[in-house]
Amino acid sequence: MLTVESIDVAYGRAQVLFGLSLTVAPGSLTCVMGRNGVGKTTLLKAVMGVLPVRSGRVEFDGHDITRLKTYERVRLGLGYAPQGHDTFPQLTVWENLQVVLEASPKATKESVDEALDVFPALRGLLRNKAGFLSGGQQQQLSMARTLVTRPSMLLLDEPTEGIQPSVILEIEEAIERLHRETGVAVLLVEQYLDLALRLADNFVIMDAGEVVRSGGREDLQDPSVRQLLTV
Ligand SMILES: Nc1ncnc2c1ncn2[C@@H]1O[C@H](COP(=O)(O)OP(=O)(O)OP(=O)(O)O)[C@@H](O)[C@H]1O
Ligand SMILES: [Mg+2]
Repeated sequence: MLTVESIDVAYGRAQVLFGLSLTVAPGSLTCVMGRNGVGKTTLLKAVMGVLPVRSGRVEFDGHDITRLKTYERVRLGLGYAPQGHDTFPQLTVWENLQVVLEASPKATKESVDEALDVFPALRGLLRNKAGFLSGGQQQQLSMARTLVTRPSMLLLDEPTEGIQPSVILEIEEAIERLHRETGVAVLLVEQYLDLALRLADNFVIMDAGEVVRSGGREDLQDPSVRQLLTV
């Protein structure tokens, strides 16, 4: 479904991704892991077209999307929940969802309802300003907003970062349910190995802008994999 082929990505003169390749099969959940600063967020930004690639190619659902604008990629079915839950803090939860509804052609009132079904905790918070929600609630709102566009593939950048264990579990269950019930493909950046072990069909481990290891869930148990993840 998603093929990233040997991409180079740089911030100005500082190159961050070096000939990175990966594939995500339709309906599968692939976990991207690796230490801080290895380029995980940069990879998702390149897939979304938030950052240009210097060379290489990105293909999604049979389309060459390498040079497409971000909104064109969203229209093709890519959904992105960036790191650090970016919501509109001055708007209510309801308004945050409405903004997406108005901005995207595929979104409907039903897709807002469906997104709220995935994160039922948000239903009781619809009139609250997003800026006053807890980190975990904001993360759920950020993911719900992405769902309103009805993506066929979700890119989630550390949805559990800085969130208390009980809420992590809620987020994990929501991802699991979504993946299982709707068959949406997921590319999940996640540092929390236990969660990856429960959710991932496949994983890739990045180091210094390259994929240094990849495999199926069972390979995650391997001690050499753990070593690549310890600081
Ligand atoms: N806007 C930017 N300008 C210049 N360098 C950047 C920029 N954003 C990130 N970098 C650098 O690119 C490298 C990769 O950053 P990136 O955010 O992709 O890492 P990451 O794997 O997502 O880390 P984390 O686990 O901390 O989220 C880092 O060395 C970082 O300092
Ligand atoms: Mg990151």
